[in-house]
Amino acid sequence: MKKVVVTGADGFIGSHLTEALLAEGCEVTALAQYNSFNNWGWLEGISHPGLRVVTGDVRDPNFCRTLVKGADTVFHLAALIAIPYSYIAPDSYVDTNVKGTLNICQAVRDNGVDRLLVTSTSEVYGTAKYVPIDEHHPKQPQSPYSASKIGADAIALSFHNAFDMNVTVVRPFNTYGPRQSARAIIPSIITQIASGKREIMVGDLTPTRDFNYVADTCRGFIEIAKTPGLAGEEINIATQREVSMETTLKTLA
Ligand SMILES: NC(=O)c1ccc[n+]([C@@H]2O[C@H](COP(=O)([O-])OP(=O)(O)OC[C@H]3O[C@@H](n4cnc5c(N)ncnc54)[C@H](O)[C@@H]3O)[C@@H](O)[C@H]2O)c1
Repeated sequence: MKKVVVTGADGFIGSHLTEALLAEGCEVTALAQYNSFNNWGWLEGISHPGLRVVTGDVRDPNFCRTLVKGADTVFHLAALIAIPYSYIAPDSYVDTNVKGTLNICQAVRDNGVDRLLVTSTSEVYGTAKYVPIDEHHPKQPQSPYSASKIGADAIALSFHNAFDMNVTVVRPFNTYGPRQSARAIIPSIITQIASGKREIMVGDLTPTRDFNYVADTCRGFIEIAKTPGLAGEEINIATQREVSMETTLKTLA
């Protein structure tokens, strides 16, 4: 793991993973989604001699082939992730999450890259049928987002089954920390408390989550990348501890 590519590096987890990989001594090619403002998202302000920022789009197969050329390990995190938006724009979720993952798999195969880690999500399991959720839990596509990630995972695993590619599906559970979208539950509660509100809007207090601090999620990615013998595996990154919305609110308060 010397020359690595991180897609979704302009985002929340990807930017932390980029910094963690740089701290490990890797040369990191970090993909920020192309936009006309030339904005690198959370990569803005990160500078390091080992960092090369590239702008582009995982929906473009030619671009993906160029992106991963010369890399030994690819961490694929780029995705559309908001569940509510997936209800009104499901096509874009299929294009980015399923087709984007196919493009990265094909590019990795064409370039003979040693190792690919594809990022899944605990959302693929839907409402828990048992806890703690493990890798054998059934998949339940409860939103177009979840369905697109189930599709993306299946594409990645098919490249292992059909072409013996060294690909591992990495499945983080709810990740929190600096740079997280303000819409997520923990930043939303913190923002409301910090702005002096006496009544906090959180919705249903009973659902539970398995919260993981972003540095721990990134450590999970790196440990999985360093571990041999995980080709064709799906691996959860989780604490296996349930925390309810009520406990989350009271703890933050
Ligand atoms: N945040 C969580 O709690 C969580 C939990 C489980 C899994 N995940 C997964 O982790 C990954 C990263 O999530 P995040 O929370 O950092 O989200 P994020 O939205 O902050 O980051 C995703 C990044 O992907 C980029 N992207 C989107 N479409 C693209 C395209 N067509 N081409 C290139 N780049 C594109 C965006 O610019 C964005 O910065 C995703 O695959 C997500 O499904 C996140």
